[in-house]
Amino acid sequence: MVKSDKVSVIVFDSGIGGLNVLNACVKRYPHFDYIYAADNFNVPYGMRSAEEVFSLATAVLDGAMQYRPTAIVVACNTVTAECIERLRERYPVPIVGMQPAVKEAAKSGGKCAVLVTEATAQSSNFRALVAANFPSATVCPCPDLAAYIEGNIFALPEVLPKDLVALPENCESIVLGCTHYVYLAGQLSRAYCCRIFDGIDGTSRRLGEMLGIYDHRGEISGISDHCLSKTGKVSFYCGNIAKNRRIYSAIFGNQPTREL
Ligand code: DGL
Repeated sequence: MVKSDKVSVIVFDSGIGGLNVLNACVKRYPHFDYIYAADNFNVPYGMRSAEEVFSLATAVLDGAMQYRPTAIVVACNTVTAECIERLRERYPVPIVGMQPAVKEAAKSGGKCAVLVTEATAQSSNFRALVAANFPSATVCPCPDLAAYIEGNIFALPEVLPKDLVALPENCESIVLGCTHYVYLAGQLSRAYCCRIFDGIDGTSRRLGEMLGIYDHRGEISGISDHCLSKTGKVSFYCGNIAKNRRIYSAIFGNQPTREL
């Protein structure tokens, strides 16, 4: 349970993908303060080794720890797959990771494609997740997709270039296993007439569970009145701050944010 009057959460991603998660967390817990920490100049992480991903992620998070967060949300499937255990050993705060929504997709069954980065596809964490929950799902690594979205976010086409996403025939559902891909959810569902699973809402809910703020009815209860009485602030740290701020306001329609 959160006892402190002030809850501040770092939401971390390689680039713009985690803004989807930040947006969901702000909507669910508007009274928390948030710092969006990103590494846009090193995107994509999904083409790097586990050691490189760990070293880039800790370069950002070591600096962000100066803001004494209550919790960290790793809003990146790649970082979660490659090194979430090592991050949990390094930082003395609760860390919520992000996994492709394979379990949710398995409940609806049918033919499913799981779109992920190369690094996620190769990681043992991800392979174990698919094997245990949805072994018949087709894993589709998308080597260039995250960098394409990061570079073209303000001019994404209505129809996707064929070479960027190669899906098996007749899919009934698609799991967006990288937070960047969520910006293409509309295009993908129109093009393939599929159900889309992205795990964003589940991740924002897990933040509250990890902080112990739900009561037995599933209502938010474990936060001090002082904290609940105010609306929190959103600020940006590291990476391309101007770009991340612009997407947060322009694409998600959010209020202006503050300087750190
Ligand atoms: N947004 C990240 C994820 O969820 C990865 C993007 C990248 O390759 O940097 O996997």
